[in-house]
Amino acid sequence: MRTKIAAGNWKMNTDLQAAQILASEVANMAKDEVPTTTQIILCVPYVHFLTVKGLINHVPHLHLGAQNCHHKPSGAYTGEISVSMLASYGVSYVILGHSERRQYFGETAEVLVPKVNAVLAAGMHPIFCIGETLDERNQSIHFEVVSKQIEEGLFHLTEQQIKEVVLAYEPVWAIGTGVTATSEQAQEMHAFIRSHIAESYGQSTADSLSILYGGSCNASNARELFACPDVDGGLIGGASLKSREFIEIAKSF
Ligand code: PGA
Repeated sequence: MRTKIAAGNWKMNTDLQAAQILASEVANMAKDEVPTTTQIILCVPYVHFLTVKGLINHVPHLHLGAQNCHHKPSGAYTGEISVSMLASYGVSYVILGHSERRQYFGETAEVLVPKVNAVLAAGMHPIFCIGETLDERNQSIHFEVVSKQIEEGLFHLTEQQIKEVVLAYEPVWAIGTGVTATSEQAQEMHAFIRSHIAESYGQSTADSLSILYGGSCNASNARELFACPDVDGGLIGGASLKSREFIEIAKSF
């Protein structure tokens, strides 16, 4: 049985007051309405960790996540946050390789591999994002693009290590656009990702990994997407900023 996950990626949204309201609403609804077999992760801006942790701590299936990290343990890296800092706040998941980080901050595999290693070494789980652009899909090279991202970012890991990773397939053309991948497109890519991992790590390891879908996932389309055999949940951007909608997504398994 793979872990079912609804992860919210708040991105660079919410001031302190909005974060307090959102986190407490999500915590209350999660506690009352979401089965404990579904893990909910809130990937919030760094500055809200302490506040959000305090508000969600009483809900065992609600976890704190980060959206990035630096790979070095400490030192003169002005403005950066290390994995030990994240761990000390009770963070258990870290989004890595999000397409916005790849696009706007030049995060290539060379940058991501040390981050993946640092997150795993700190005992946390990377949520490793992969996905093709519209141009790449139109050229029918989306499978190549995604397999290259997985190989370059993760295939240096041992079997034990890769089991700690959560994958998130996020077609770039679906992120924040209101255009969602169809359930057929999502299932096709998720099955491909799983078989690609099985080739290197064996079927049982591949079968144990949670692969999330991300890209304009909302309360109206989550149920159909999550019903796909290889879709184990979602990485939710815009819709995670509305507590009721996010909880409805988390209840869509
Ligand atoms: P979206 O973002 O749900 O707003 O499309 C998803 C993501 O970027 O993780």
